[in-house]
Amino acid sequence: MNEKIAALSQAFEAELLKVTDNAELENMRVAYLGKKGSITALMKEMGKLSAEEKKSFGQEVNQLKTLVSDQIAAKKEDLARIELEKEINAAPEIDVSIPPVMDRGSYHPITLVQRQCEKVFKSMGFTVEDYSEVVTDYECFEALNIPKFHPARDMQDTYYLENGQLLKTHTSAAQNAIYKKYSKALIEDGVPIKAIFPGRCFRNEATDACHENTFFQMEGVMVDKNISISNLIYFMKTMLSEVFQKDIKVRLRPGFFPFVEPGFELDISCLICGGDGCPSCKHSGWLELCPCGMIHPEVLRAGGIDPDEYTGFAFGLGLTRLAMMKYGIKDIRDLNSGSLASMHQFTDDE
Ligand code: DAH
Repeated sequence: MNEKIAALSQAFEAELLKVTDNAELENMRVAYLGKKGSITALMKEMGKLSAEEKKSFGQEVNQLKTLVSDQIAAKKEDLARIELEKEINAAPEIDVSIPPVMDRGSYHPITLVQRQCEKVFKSMGFTVEDYSEVVTDYECFEALNIPKFHPARDMQDTYYLENGQLLKTHTSAAQNAIYKKYSKALIEDGVPIKAIFPGRCFRNEATDACHENTFFQMEGVMVDKNISISNLIYFMKTMLSEVFQKDIKVRLRPGFFPFVEPGFELDISCLICGGDGCPSCKHSGWLELCPCGMIHPEVLRAGGIDPDEYTGFAFGLGLTRLAMMKYGIKDIRDLNSGSLASMHQFTDDE
């Protein structure tokens, strides 16, 4: 190999090793391959050579040129990779095992009380039924002894669909379907109907701290031979004592609902003062909790059950109200707010 070429090649290799950034590399490229670069200068020398010498010299210069430009390209890639590694190492370390700082979710207070109620009733042999939120006028009213233009409908204005169906105003709307579902087993096999059906209800309400257009109830029914008000009192007392984790006293006051006869308002002893009287219970010692009663004969009949042979009780527990009482929630609108912060404070430990 021509001595000059060999020397240049060695010098290039040695110099390249020392290059640490792109600017230096670019300077080197210009110094070797640029117009005034050393390889270009070598090419120019070719003119002085004999035809014989030109050939091998030309080949060697070309080889050197290729080697230099290949090595510069390779070095460029190396530098880019080193740069990237530096960036990666400089980034703060992420420890994927650390739990996210984001707020942890919790069960909604209504879900919690609903589950507690379901658990107690299931343990007493009740089935838990699921029922549609969209129902017919018949299911919501007619089958419950509330004919068209009955004044009881005034309290239960709701949202109507164009097909005449409506958003159910109370869980009682499922009663008729439940009776029909289980009446055969009751009549033919003597299996009592014991069912609860929690659900979302809707009413055309102006909202304030105590009223919402969307709320939850849990209906319960029991039908068999010789069912009496004592059965109703027993089941309600057991369920409430379980939910509140203390012995709850209950009392019945007369109340009117077209689908029960007699109908009652069930009160519980005040949870705050235990019955002595305080501002929460307006000094009466009692809190109104759950309307209930003995199922009206017309309602049983509409469900395919002979009221002369069978009797039953029904109750409509306000799950929303129960959750507010249990967790001390003062404004009903908090429950539908979707705010993790406001829900969390009530149920953090559950
Ligand atoms: N459905 C009634 C309402 O929402 C509540 C109710 C009253 C349910 C008496 C019952 C009952 O099962 O027996 O206003």
